[in-house]
Amino acid sequence: MVQEQDWTQVVAAATRAPSIHNTQPWRFVAGPDRLELHLDPDRSLPVLDPTGRQQVISCGIAVEFAVVALAARGLATEVDPVPDPADPGHLATVRITGSVDAPADDRALAAAIERRHTVRAPFEPRTVPDDLVERLQAEAAGYGAWVKPIAGEDEEIATVLLTSRAEEIEQGDPDYLAELERWLRTDPAAVDGVPTDAVPSGDPHERASNWLVRDFVAGQRDPHRFRVAGDPAAPPPEVERPAVVLMGTHGDDRVAWVLAGRAVGRVLLRITAAGLAASPLTQALDWPATRVRMRAQLSLVGHPQMLLRLGYPRQPGEGEPAPPVSGRRPVQDVLSFEPTG
Ligand SMILES: Cc1cc2nc3c(=O)[nH]c(=O)nc-3n(C[C@H](O)[C@H](O)[C@H](O)COP(=O)(O)O)c2cc1C
Repeated sequence: MVQEQDWTQVVAAATRAPSIHNTQPWRFVAGPDRLELHLDPDRSLPVLDPTGRQQVISCGIAVEFAVVALAARGLATEVDPVPDPADPGHLATVRITGSVDAPADDRALAAAIERRHTVRAPFEPRTVPDDLVERLQAEAAGYGAWVKPIAGEDEEIATVLLTSRAEEIEQGDPDYLAELERWLRTDPAAVDGVPTDAVPSGDPHERASNWLVRDFVAGQRDPHRFRVAGDPAAPPPEVERPAVVLMGTHGDDRVAWVLAGRAVGRVLLRITAAGLAASPLTQALDWPATRVRMRAQLSLVGHPQMLLRLGYPRQPGEGEPAPPVSGRRPVQDVLSFEPTG
């Protein structure tokens, strides 16, 4: 049996999960031996994510962070998907099934929850070890998800071009820009949304990388003609050699999206524990046209759910500020308790 105070700490860990535009589209209901996760429809992104796919993935990541936090406390769990047509917002229930001696690995993953942040700045010019990528593949497979490194020139060019094409569509869509603007925050104490300090202020096209990070402040910049990032046919420049991995699932419904999110959550904690960081690059997956083309051009079996740029983050130099941390809503705003008695 988990006490209310402990649930508060577990849900605080769960809400450290990354979410699309930091919308934190979740609501938790705790009972003595179970935690339900519900999608919060008031925080939806109707332009970017009309099916809710990316928000359900975000919730799946929160489920995994809760599972890891519980495991580190010595609590074994099972996660039930809840495909209830009468209540499609009820995404998952985490059930406590017993107690275990928390292995060091669970504790290391739980410790990574607080340290993990999306890092959009260029990474160090250091190669991501193959054995780490193999481990991510094996762990994701435990959730029925796959991890495909974008390797070789053809795959890289195809993915870069689709990402650039999607970013171009987005920058030309006033509704997309208005929605993005609604989730941008200049107040460092904001409890949700993307802090402007956490996104590159310069034009992403000017970065010495052919991977185009999402341009969060495009709407505030002087209009410019859209250019594809870097020269897609040229080898990646020295300054940034991220590993880019595509994650996907065989199915493409809410149950698959929750599982994809759980796999993403595990991958993010695993790489954080290994001293790496990530930033999602999901523009090409935002739009059905580019998402479908990615399936075809990369000959994917299944559905792409998340594109992640992985690498070793640069440590701030002396006198340089640490990268800003994005806010979270207080736990009491997202957690309620089942009535007892
Ligand atoms: C499904 C999903 C898609 C995302 N897509 C992008 C993206 O395309 N570009 C980006 O810079 N960040 C992306 N993010 C990262 C969020 O903006 C980030 O998680 C959020 O602002 C909270 O910040 P944090 O991860 O540092 O805690 C995505 C996150 C999720 C879960």
